[in-house]
Amino acid sequence: MSTRSSIGAAQLDRALGDWQQGRDVAYRSLAGSLRSLVLDGRVPVASRLPAERELSSVLGVSRTTIAAAYELLRDEGFLQSRRGAGSWTALPAGRPMPVAGLSPYPTDRGGVIDLGVAAMAAAEPWISTAMAAAVDELPCYTGTHGDFPAGLQVLRQAVADRYTRRGLPTVPEQIMVTNGATGAFSLLLRALVGPGDRIAVESPSYANALQAICLHGARPVPVPLERDGWPLDAWARTLREAGPTLAYVIPDFHNPTGLLMPDHQRRELVALARSAGTRLVVDETLAELLLEPGTVLPAPLAAYDRNGSVITIGSAGKTFWGGLRIGWIRAAPELIRRIAADRASLDVSSPVLEQLAVCRLLTECLPEVLEYQRARLRAQRDALVDAVRAELPDWTFRLPQGGLSLWVRTEEGGLGGSALASAAQGCGVWIGSGPRFGVDGMLERFVRLPFTQPAEVAREAVRRLVAARATAGSPEAPASQCALL
Ligand SMILES: Cc1ncc(COP(=O)(O)O)c(C=O)c1O
Repeated sequence: MSTRSSIGAAQLDRALGDWQQGRDVAYRSLAGSLRSLVLDGRVPVASRLPAERELSSVLGVSRTTIAAAYELLRDEGFLQSRRGAGSWTALPAGRPMPVAGLSPYPTDRGGVIDLGVAAMAAAEPWISTAMAAAVDELPCYTGTHGDFPAGLQVLRQAVADRYTRRGLPTVPEQIMVTNGATGAFSLLLRALVGPGDRIAVESPSYANALQAICLHGARPVPVPLERDGWPLDAWARTLREAGPTLAYVIPDFHNPTGLLMPDHQRRELVALARSAGTRLVVDETLAELLLEPGTVLPAPLAAYDRNGSVITIGSAGKTFWGGLRIGWIRAAPELIRRIAADRASLDVSSPVLEQLAVCRLLTECLPEVLEYQRARLRAQRDALVDAVRAELPDWTFRLPQGGLSLWVRTEEGGLGGSALASAAQGCGVWIGSGPRFGVDGMLERFVRLPFTQPAEVAREAVRRLVAARATAGSPEAPASQCALL
Protein backbone atom coordinates (compact mmCIF):
# COMPACT_ATOMS: atom_id res chain seq x y z
CA MET A 1 0.00 0.00 0.00
CA SER A 2 1.31 3.49 -0.76
CA THR A 3 1.34 6.20 1.90
CA ARG A 4 -1.52 8.70 1.98
CA SER A 5 0.15 11.28 4.21
CA SER A 6 2.61 11.50 7.06
CA ILE A 7 2.39 12.25 10.75
CA GLY A 8 4.89 14.68 12.25
CA ALA A 9 6.89 13.86 15.38
CA ALA A 10 5.23 16.65 17.39
CA GLN A 11 1.75 15.52 16.37
CA LEU A 12 2.60 11.90 17.22
CA ASP A 13 3.97 13.00 20.60
CA ARG A 14 0.65 14.77 21.30
CA ALA A 15 -1.39 11.76 20.22
CA LEU A 16 0.72 9.34 22.30
CA GLY A 17 0.21 11.36 25.49
CA ASP A 18 1.53 9.65 28.60
CA TRP A 19 2.60 6.40 26.96
CA GLN A 20 5.30 5.56 29.56
CA GLN A 21 2.80 5.24 32.43
CA GLY A 22 2.60 1.41 32.53
CA ARG A 23 5.15 -0.94 34.05
CA ASP A 24 6.06 -2.58 30.74
CA VAL A 25 9.47 -2.03 29.16
CA ALA A 26 9.65 1.18 27.16
CA TYR A 27 9.69 -0.26 23.63
CA ARG A 28 6.66 -2.50 24.32
CA SER A 29 4.73 0.40 25.89
CA LEU A 30 5.51 2.56 22.90
CA ALA A 31 4.53 -0.16 20.42
CA GLY A 32 1.32 -0.79 22.39
CA SER A 33 0.38 2.89 22.37
CA LEU A 34 1.14 3.20 18.66
CA ARG A 35 -0.97 0.10 17.95
CA SER A 36 -3.91 1.63 19.89
CA LEU A 37 -3.56 4.87 17.95
CA VAL A 38 -3.87 2.96 14.68
CA LEU A 39 -6.81 0.87 15.91
CA ASP A 40 -8.57 3.97 17.27
CA GLY A 41 -8.12 5.75 13.95
CA ARG A 42 -6.06 8.51 15.56
CA VAL A 43 -3.16 7.64 13.29
CA PRO A 44 -4.62 6.66 9.93
CA VAL A 45 -3.52 3.53 8.10
CA ALA A 46 -0.87 4.27 5.43
CA SER A 47 0.57 7.24 7.36
CA ARG A 48 4.33 7.62 7.18
CA LEU A 49 5.78 7.68 10.71
CA PRO A 50 8.66 9.97 11.70
CA ALA A 51 12.19 8.64 11.22
CA GLU A 52 13.60 6.83 14.27
CA ARG A 53 16.17 9.54 15.03
CA GLU A 54 13.60 12.37 14.90
CA LEU A 55 11.06 10.52 17.05
CA SER A 56 13.69 9.56 19.62
CA SER A 57 14.67 13.18 20.09
CA VAL A 58 11.04 14.42 20.39
CA LEU A 59 9.98 11.63 22.79
CA GLY A 60 13.21 11.82 24.76
CA VAL A 61 14.02 8.10 24.55
CA SER A 62 16.88 6.24 22.90
CA ARG A 63 16.85 5.43 19.24
CA THR A 64 17.11 1.73 20.17
CA THR A 65 13.73 1.99 21.94
CA ILE A 66 12.11 3.46 18.82
CA ALA A 67 13.75 0.87 16.56
CA ALA A 68 12.58 -1.99 18.82
CA ALA A 69 9.03 -0.61 18.97
CA TYR A 70 8.93 -0.28 15.17
CA GLU A 71 10.32 -3.81 14.85
CA LEU A 72 7.59 -5.23 17.10
CA LEU A 73 4.87 -3.42 15.15
CA ARG A 74 6.34 -4.75 11.90
CA ASP A 75 6.18 -8.31 13.28
CA GLU A 76 2.52 -7.76 14.22
CA GLY A 77 1.63 -6.34 10.81
CA PHE A 78 0.88 -2.80 12.03
CA LEU A 79 3.91 -1.29 10.28
CA GLN A 80 5.63 -1.71 6.95
CA SER A 81 9.04 -0.31 6.05
CA ARG A 82 11.16 -0.06 2.95
CA ARG A 83 14.76 1.05 2.87
CA GLY A 84 14.90 4.64 1.70
CA ALA A 85 11.09 5.06 1.85
CA GLY A 86 10.62 5.00 5.65
CA SER A 87 7.92 3.26 7.71
CA TRP A 88 4.20 3.60 7.42
CA THR A 89 1.25 2.25 9.41
CA ALA A 90 -0.60 -0.81 8.11
CA LEU A 91 -3.14 -3.41 9.14
CA PRO A 92 -2.36 -7.07 9.78
CA ALA A 93 -3.47 -9.22 6.82
CA GLY A 94 -7.05 -10.47 7.04
CA ARG A 95 -8.50 -7.59 9.08
CA PRO A 96 -11.80 -6.48 7.58
CA MET A 97 -12.02 -2.97 6.17
CA PRO A 98 -15.75 -2.27 6.13
CA VAL A 99 -17.23 0.88 4.70
CA ALA A 100 -20.85 0.69 5.67
CA GLY A 101 -23.40 3.44 5.95
CA LEU A 102 -26.00 3.72 8.68
CA SER A 103 -29.58 2.69 8.12
CA PRO A 104 -32.57 3.02 10.41
CA TYR A 105 -34.04 0.01 12.19
CA PRO A 106 -37.20 -1.03 10.34
CA THR A 107 -40.08 0.72 12.12
CA ASP A 108 -42.38 -2.28 11.62
CA ARG A 109 -40.29 -4.41 14.01
CA GLY A 110 -41.43 -3.19 17.39
CA GLY A 111 -39.67 -3.23 20.73
CA VAL A 112 -36.28 -2.10 19.49
CA ILE A 113 -34.82 1.28 20.52
CA ASP A 114 -33.24 2.78 17.42
CA LEU A 115 -30.08 4.72 18.28
CA GLY A 116 -28.57 3.74 14.93
CA VAL A 117 -29.57 6.91 13.14
CA ALA A 118 -29.24 10.35 14.70
CA ALA A 119 -32.64 11.71 13.77
CA MET A 120 -35.57 12.98 15.80
CA ALA A 121 -39.31 12.74 15.39
CA ALA A 122 -40.84 15.75 13.60
CA ALA A 123 -41.10 19.16 15.29
CA GLU A 124 -44.86 19.22 15.72
CA PRO A 125 -47.30 20.86 15.23
CA TRP A 126 -45.19 23.01 12.88
CA ILE A 127 -44.52 20.32 10.27
CA SER A 128 -48.17 19.28 9.85
CA THR A 129 -49.32 22.90 9.78
CA ALA A 130 -46.72 23.83 7.16
CA MET A 131 -47.68 20.84 5.02
CA ALA A 132 -51.38 21.79 5.20
CA ALA A 133 -50.54 25.36 4.17
CA ALA A 134 -48.39 23.97 1.32
CA VAL A 135 -51.38 22.01 0.01
CA ASP A 136 -53.33 25.29 -0.11
CA GLU A 137 -50.51 26.92 -2.11
CA LEU A 138 -50.05 24.00 -4.49
CA PRO A 139 -52.54 25.23 -7.15
CA CYS A 140 -50.05 28.03 -8.00
CA TYR A 141 -47.71 25.28 -9.30
CA THR A 142 -50.01 22.53 -10.59
CA GLY A 143 -50.35 24.33 -13.93
CA THR A 144 -46.59 23.83 -14.55
CA HIS A 145 -44.64 20.64 -15.38
CA GLY A 146 -43.43 20.58 -11.76
CA ASP A 147 -39.70 20.12 -12.51
CA PHE A 148 -37.49 22.77 -10.92
CA PRO A 149 -33.93 21.40 -11.08
CA ALA A 150 -32.49 24.24 -8.97
CA GLY A 151 -35.53 24.39 -6.70
CA LEU A 152 -38.52 26.70 -6.27
CA GLN A 153 -37.48 30.32 -6.42
CA VAL A 154 -39.27 31.11 -3.13
CA LEU A 155 -37.31 28.45 -1.27
CA ARG A 156 -33.98 29.44 -2.86
CA GLN A 157 -34.70 32.97 -1.65
CA ALA A 158 -35.61 31.79 1.87
CA VAL A 159 -32.42 29.71 2.19
CA ALA A 160 -30.30 32.58 0.83
CA ASP A 161 -31.89 34.98 3.34
CA ARG A 162 -31.07 32.61 6.21
CA TYR A 163 -27.38 32.62 5.16
CA THR A 164 -27.42 36.39 4.90
CA ARG A 165 -28.85 36.65 8.43
CA ARG A 166 -26.13 34.28 9.70
CA GLY A 167 -23.40 36.59 8.37
CA LEU A 168 -22.88 35.19 4.87
CA PRO A 169 -24.50 37.43 2.22
CA THR A 170 -26.14 35.13 -0.32
CA VAL A 171 -28.39 35.49 -3.38
CA PRO A 172 -30.86 32.85 -4.61
CA GLU A 173 -28.70 32.11 -7.69
CA GLN A 174 -26.12 30.63 -5.26
CA ILE A 175 -28.65 28.12 -3.89
CA MET A 176 -29.86 24.85 -5.33
CA VAL A 177 -32.52 22.79 -3.56
CA THR A 178 -31.71 19.06 -3.30
CA ASN A 179 -33.13 15.86 -1.81
CA GLY A 180 -31.52 16.28 1.58
CA ALA A 181 -27.87 16.99 2.30
CA THR A 182 -27.26 13.43 1.10
CA GLY A 183 -28.60 14.30 -2.35
CA ALA A 184 -26.52 17.48 -2.29
CA PHE A 185 -23.31 15.57 -1.59
CA SER A 186 -24.01 12.96 -4.29
CA LEU A 187 -24.62 15.70 -6.86
CA LEU A 188 -21.32 17.33 -5.89
CA LEU A 189 -19.40 14.05 -6.12
CA ARG A 190 -20.81 13.51 -9.63
CA ALA A 191 -19.87 17.01 -10.69
CA LEU A 192 -16.43 17.38 -9.14
CA VAL A 193 -14.81 14.02 -8.39
CA GLY A 194 -13.50 11.26 -10.63
CA PRO A 195 -12.76 7.62 -9.76
CA GLY A 196 -9.57 7.30 -7.72
CA ASP A 197 -9.60 10.95 -6.63
CA ARG A 198 -8.76 11.60 -3.00
CA ILE A 199 -11.12 13.31 -0.58
CA ALA A 200 -9.77 14.48 2.78
CA VAL A 201 -12.21 13.73 5.62
CA GLU A 202 -12.23 14.08 9.37
CA SER A 203 -11.82 10.83 11.29
CA PRO A 204 -14.37 10.10 12.62
CA SER A 205 -16.81 11.44 10.06
CA TYR A 206 -20.44 11.02 8.97
CA ALA A 207 -20.79 7.35 7.99
CA ASN A 208 -23.06 7.85 4.98
CA ALA A 209 -20.77 10.50 3.47
CA LEU A 210 -17.82 8.08 3.77
CA GLN A 211 -19.90 5.41 2.08
CA ALA A 212 -20.90 7.81 -0.71
CA ILE A 213 -17.24 8.65 -1.31
CA CYS A 214 -16.27 4.98 -1.55
CA LEU A 215 -19.25 4.00 -3.73
CA HIS A 216 -18.29 6.83 -6.04
CA GLY A 217 -14.87 5.19 -6.49
CA ALA A 218 -13.02 8.00 -4.71
CA ARG A 219 -10.63 7.44 -1.79
CA PRO A 220 -11.23 9.02 1.62
CA VAL A 221 -8.03 10.27 3.26
CA PRO A 222 -8.65 10.51 7.03
CA VAL A 223 -7.33 13.35 9.15
CA PRO A 224 -7.90 12.40 12.82
CA LEU A 225 -9.81 14.80 15.03
CA GLU A 226 -8.22 15.39 18.40
CA ARG A 227 -10.19 15.51 21.64
CA ASP A 228 -10.66 19.27 21.35
CA GLY A 229 -10.95 19.63 17.61
CA TRP A 230 -9.17 19.98 14.31
CA PRO A 231 -5.34 19.70 14.36
CA LEU A 232 -4.53 22.12 11.55
CA ASP A 233 -0.90 21.02 11.34
CA ALA A 234 -2.18 17.59 10.32
CA TRP A 235 -4.63 19.17 7.86
CA ALA A 236 -1.82 21.20 6.31
CA ARG A 237 0.32 18.09 5.89
CA THR A 238 -2.47 15.96 4.41
CA LEU A 239 -3.58 18.65 1.97
CA ARG A 240 0.01 19.15 0.86
CA GLU A 241 1.03 15.49 0.64
CA ALA A 242 -2.15 13.72 -0.51
CA GLY A 243 -3.30 16.48 -2.89
CA PRO A 244 -7.02 15.73 -2.40
CA THR A 245 -9.52 17.04 -4.96
CA LEU A 246 -12.02 17.82 -2.21
CA ALA A 247 -12.04 18.08 1.56
CA TYR A 248 -15.35 17.22 3.26
CA VAL A 249 -15.71 18.76 6.73
CA ILE A 250 -18.48 19.16 9.34
CA PRO A 251 -17.37 22.20 11.37
CA ASP A 252 -20.73 22.87 13.05
CA PHE A 253 -21.55 20.32 15.76
CA HIS A 254 -19.65 17.66 13.93
CA ASN A 255 -21.27 14.26 13.51
CA PRO A 256 -20.47 12.15 15.55
CA THR A 257 -18.37 14.18 18.06
CA GLY A 258 -20.46 17.37 18.41
CA LEU A 259 -17.32 19.54 18.07
CA LEU A 260 -17.61 23.16 16.89
CA MET A 261 -14.76 24.69 14.88
CA PRO A 262 -13.71 28.11 16.23
CA ASP A 263 -13.40 31.25 14.02
CA HIS A 264 -9.63 31.28 13.70
CA GLN A 265 -9.53 27.65 12.55
CA ARG A 266 -12.21 28.34 9.92
CA ARG A 267 -10.08 31.14 8.53
CA GLU A 268 -6.94 29.01 8.56
CA LEU A 269 -8.57 25.92 7.01
CA VAL A 270 -9.91 28.02 4.12
CA ALA A 271 -6.40 29.41 3.55
CA LEU A 272 -4.79 25.94 3.71
CA ALA A 273 -7.28 24.48 1.24
CA ARG A 274 -6.83 27.41 -1.12
CA SER A 275 -3.06 27.09 -1.18
CA ALA A 276 -3.29 23.30 -1.72
CA GLY A 277 -5.81 23.73 -4.57
CA THR A 278 -8.39 21.59 -2.71
CA ARG A 279 -12.12 22.46 -2.84
CA LEU A 280 -13.74 22.57 0.60
CA VAL A 281 -17.20 21.04 0.96
CA VAL A 282 -18.70 22.13 4.26
CA ASP A 283 -21.60 20.09 5.64
CA GLU A 284 -23.80 22.35 7.78
CA THR A 285 -26.59 19.87 8.39
CA LEU A 286 -26.33 20.23 12.18
CA ALA A 287 -25.43 23.93 12.30
CA GLU A 288 -28.69 25.10 13.95
CA LEU A 289 -28.51 22.57 16.81
CA LEU A 290 -26.77 24.71 19.41
CA LEU A 291 -27.52 23.42 22.90
CA GLU A 292 -25.70 25.83 25.23
CA PRO A 293 -27.59 29.12 25.56
CA GLY A 294 -25.24 32.08 25.42
CA THR A 295 -22.67 30.42 23.13
CA VAL A 296 -21.82 32.71 20.23
CA LEU A 297 -21.80 30.77 17.00
CA PRO A 298 -19.04 31.48 14.49
CA ALA A 299 -20.11 32.66 11.04
CA PRO A 300 -20.62 29.90 8.42
CA LEU A 301 -17.24 28.62 7.24
CA ALA A 302 -17.82 29.99 3.72
CA ALA A 303 -17.89 33.51 5.21
CA TYR A 304 -14.09 33.24 5.59
CA ASP A 305 -13.64 32.60 1.87
CA ARG A 306 -13.13 35.71 -0.24
CA ASN A 307 -12.92 33.76 -3.52
CA GLY A 308 -16.34 32.15 -3.33
CA SER A 309 -14.94 28.67 -3.93
CA VAL A 310 -16.04 27.02 -0.65
CA ILE A 311 -19.15 24.90 -1.20
CA THR A 312 -21.71 24.49 1.58
CA ILE A 313 -24.40 21.86 1.94
CA GLY A 314 -27.29 22.08 4.35
CA SER A 315 -30.55 20.40 5.24
CA ALA A 316 -34.00 20.90 6.71
CA GLY A 317 -33.71 17.36 8.10
CA LYS A 318 -32.34 18.09 11.56
CA THR A 319 -33.85 21.51 12.12
CA PHE A 320 -37.40 20.45 11.13
CA TRP A 321 -37.77 16.80 10.10
CA GLY A 322 -35.81 14.24 8.11
CA GLY A 323 -38.99 13.00 6.40
CA LEU A 324 -39.20 16.23 4.39
CA ARG A 325 -36.05 15.16 2.45
CA ILE A 326 -35.14 18.73 1.56
CA GLY A 327 -31.56 20.01 1.55
CA TRP A 328 -29.49 22.44 -0.48
CA ILE A 329 -26.15 23.41 -1.98
CA ARG A 330 -24.69 26.92 -1.65
CA ALA A 331 -22.01 27.55 -4.28
CA ALA A 332 -21.02 29.97 -7.04
CA PRO A 333 -23.90 30.55 -9.51
CA GLU A 334 -21.93 28.96 -12.42
CA LEU A 335 -21.48 25.73 -10.46
CA ILE A 336 -25.13 25.74 -9.38
CA ARG A 337 -26.19 26.10 -13.03
CA ARG A 338 -23.91 23.24 -14.09
CA ILE A 339 -25.12 20.85 -11.38
CA ALA A 340 -28.77 21.74 -12.00
CA ALA A 341 -28.31 21.07 -15.73
CA ASP A 342 -26.80 17.62 -14.97
CA ARG A 343 -29.52 16.65 -12.52
CA ALA A 344 -31.96 15.28 -15.10
CA SER A 345 -30.16 11.93 -15.16
CA LEU A 346 -30.17 11.50 -11.37
CA ASP A 347 -33.28 12.66 -9.53
CA VAL A 348 -34.60 15.49 -11.77
CA SER A 349 -35.75 17.81 -8.97
CA SER A 350 -37.23 17.89 -5.45
CA PRO A 351 -40.93 17.52 -4.54
CA VAL A 352 -42.86 20.80 -4.82
CA LEU A 353 -45.09 20.24 -1.78
CA GLU A 354 -42.19 19.68 0.63
CA GLN A 355 -40.32 22.67 -0.80
CA LEU A 356 -43.33 24.87 -0.10
CA ALA A 357 -43.55 23.51 3.44
CA VAL A 358 -39.84 24.12 4.14
CA CYS A 359 -40.15 27.64 2.72
CA ARG A 360 -42.95 28.40 5.18
CA LEU A 361 -41.03 26.79 8.06
CA LEU A 362 -37.94 28.91 7.32
CA THR A 363 -39.75 32.19 6.82
CA GLU A 364 -42.47 31.97 9.47
CA CYS A 365 -41.59 29.42 12.14
CA LEU A 366 -37.79 29.19 12.52
CA PRO A 367 -37.29 30.96 15.89
CA GLU A 368 -40.07 29.00 17.61
CA VAL A 369 -39.00 25.68 16.12
CA LEU A 370 -35.36 26.25 17.09
CA GLU A 371 -36.33 27.09 20.64
CA TYR A 372 -38.44 23.93 20.85
CA GLN A 373 -35.85 21.64 19.21
CA ARG A 374 -32.95 22.96 21.26
CA ALA A 375 -34.81 22.62 24.58
CA ARG A 376 -35.92 19.11 23.68
CA LEU A 377 -32.40 18.07 22.61
CA ARG A 378 -30.79 19.63 25.68
CA ALA A 379 -33.09 17.67 28.02
CA GLN A 380 -32.50 14.46 26.06
CA ARG A 381 -28.74 14.97 26.00
CA ASP A 382 -28.65 15.58 29.74
CA ALA A 383 -30.74 12.46 30.45
CA LEU A 384 -28.48 10.30 28.27
CA VAL A 385 -25.34 11.79 29.80
CA ASP A 386 -26.61 11.13 33.35
CA ALA A 387 -27.59 7.57 32.49
CA VAL A 388 -24.23 6.73 30.88
CA ARG A 389 -22.30 8.32 33.74
CA ALA A 390 -24.33 6.39 36.31
CA GLU A 391 -24.53 2.99 34.60
CA LEU A 392 -21.36 2.87 32.52
CA PRO A 393 -18.91 5.03 34.49
CA ASP A 394 -15.82 3.78 32.67
CA TRP A 395 -17.13 4.98 29.30
CA THR A 396 -15.79 8.42 28.45
CA PHE A 397 -16.96 11.23 26.18
CA ARG A 398 -16.69 14.94 25.75
CA LEU A 399 -19.93 16.82 26.52
CA PRO A 400 -21.11 18.20 23.15
CA GLN A 401 -22.29 21.81 22.98
CA GLY A 402 -24.57 20.94 20.10
CA GLY A 403 -25.51 18.35 17.52
CA LEU A 404 -27.24 15.06 18.09
CA SER A 405 -24.89 12.52 19.61
CA LEU A 406 -22.33 11.46 22.20
CA TRP A 407 -19.15 9.96 20.78
CA VAL A 408 -18.25 7.46 23.45
CA ARG A 409 -14.99 5.67 24.10
CA THR A 410 -15.79 2.35 25.77
CA GLU A 411 -13.68 0.94 28.57
CA GLU A 412 -10.10 -0.23 27.99
CA GLY A 413 -9.89 -4.00 27.59
CA GLY A 414 -13.67 -4.35 27.16
CA LEU A 415 -15.73 -5.33 24.14
CA GLY A 416 -14.94 -3.57 20.87
CA GLY A 417 -17.60 -1.29 19.36
CA SER A 418 -18.63 -3.84 16.70
CA ALA A 419 -19.07 -6.70 19.20
CA LEU A 420 -20.96 -4.38 21.52
CA ALA A 421 -23.25 -3.17 18.72
CA SER A 422 -24.12 -6.73 17.75
CA ALA A 423 -24.67 -7.79 21.38
CA ALA A 424 -26.84 -4.67 21.81
CA GLN A 425 -29.05 -5.75 18.92
CA GLY A 426 -29.83 -8.95 20.81
CA CYS A 427 -30.82 -6.78 23.79
CA GLY A 428 -33.18 -4.60 21.78
CA VAL A 429 -31.08 -1.52 21.09
CA TRP A 430 -29.59 -0.55 17.74
CA ILE A 431 -26.38 1.52 17.83
CA GLY A 432 -23.66 2.55 15.36
CA SER A 433 -20.22 1.10 16.18
CA GLY A 434 -17.07 3.22 15.83
CA PRO A 435 -15.77 1.66 12.59
CA ARG A 436 -18.86 2.92 10.73
CA PHE A 437 -17.53 6.43 11.24
CA GLY A 438 -13.96 5.68 10.25
CA VAL A 439 -11.90 4.70 7.27
CA ASP A 440 -10.25 1.24 7.06
CA GLY A 441 -12.35 -0.31 9.86
CA MET A 442 -10.62 1.62 12.65
CA LEU A 443 -12.23 3.30 15.71
CA GLU A 444 -13.17 -0.05 17.30
CA ARG A 445 -13.08 1.43 20.81
CA PHE A 446 -15.98 3.79 20.07
CA VAL A 447 -19.74 3.83 19.74
CA ARG A 448 -22.07 6.68 18.82
CA LEU A 449 -25.05 7.29 21.09
CA PRO A 450 -27.52 9.83 19.68
CA PHE A 451 -29.68 11.78 22.14
CA THR A 452 -32.60 11.78 19.76
CA GLN A 453 -34.95 9.76 21.97
CA PRO A 454 -37.05 10.99 24.90
CA ALA A 455 -35.32 10.78 28.31
CA GLU A 456 -37.14 7.64 29.48
CA VAL A 457 -36.28 5.76 26.28
CA ALA A 458 -32.64 6.86 26.54
CA ARG A 459 -32.45 5.53 30.10
CA GLU A 460 -33.92 2.20 28.99
CA ALA A 461 -31.43 2.08 26.08
CA VAL A 462 -28.53 2.49 28.52
CA ARG A 463 -29.93 -0.29 30.76
CA ARG A 464 -30.01 -2.53 27.70
CA LEU A 465 -26.42 -1.59 26.82
CA VAL A 466 -25.33 -2.58 30.32
CA ALA A 467 -27.07 -5.92 29.83
CA ALA A 468 -25.53 -6.34 26.38
CA ARG A 469 -22.06 -5.72 27.74
CA ALA A 470 -22.51 -8.19 30.58
CA THR A 471 -24.11 -10.85 28.42
CA ALA A 472 -21.61 -10.65 25.60
CA GLY A 473 -18.74 -10.82 28.05
CA SER A 474 -20.00 -14.04 29.63
CA PRO A 475 -19.52 -17.34 27.75
CA GLU A 476 -22.55 -18.99 29.47
CA ALA A 477 -25.00 -16.35 28.35
CA PRO A 478 -25.15 -15.80 24.62
CA ALA A 479 -26.23 -12.34 23.50
CA SER A 480 -29.51 -13.66 22.08
CA GLN A 481 -30.83 -14.25 25.64
CA CYS A 482 -31.10 -10.51 25.96
CA ALA A 483 -33.80 -10.42 23.30
CA LEU A 484 -36.33 -10.94 26.11
CA LEU A 485 -35.70 -7.43 27.45
C1 LIG B 1 -23.38 15.64 8.94
C2 LIG B 1 -24.59 15.10 8.25
N1 LIG B 1 -24.74 15.31 6.94
C3 LIG B 1 -25.81 14.85 6.28
C4 LIG B 1 -26.80 14.14 6.92
C5 LIG B 1 -27.97 13.64 6.12
O1 LIG B 1 -28.83 14.71 5.87
P1 LIG B 1 -30.16 14.54 5.02
O2 LIG B 1 -31.11 13.74 5.86
O3 LIG B 1 -30.60 15.93 4.77
O4 LIG B 1 -29.80 13.82 3.77
C6 LIG B 1 -26.69 13.90 8.28
C7 LIG B 1 -27.70 13.11 8.99
O5 LIG B 1 -27.51 12.66 10.09
C8 LIG B 1 -25.56 14.39 8.96
O6 LIG B 1 -25.39 14.20 10.28
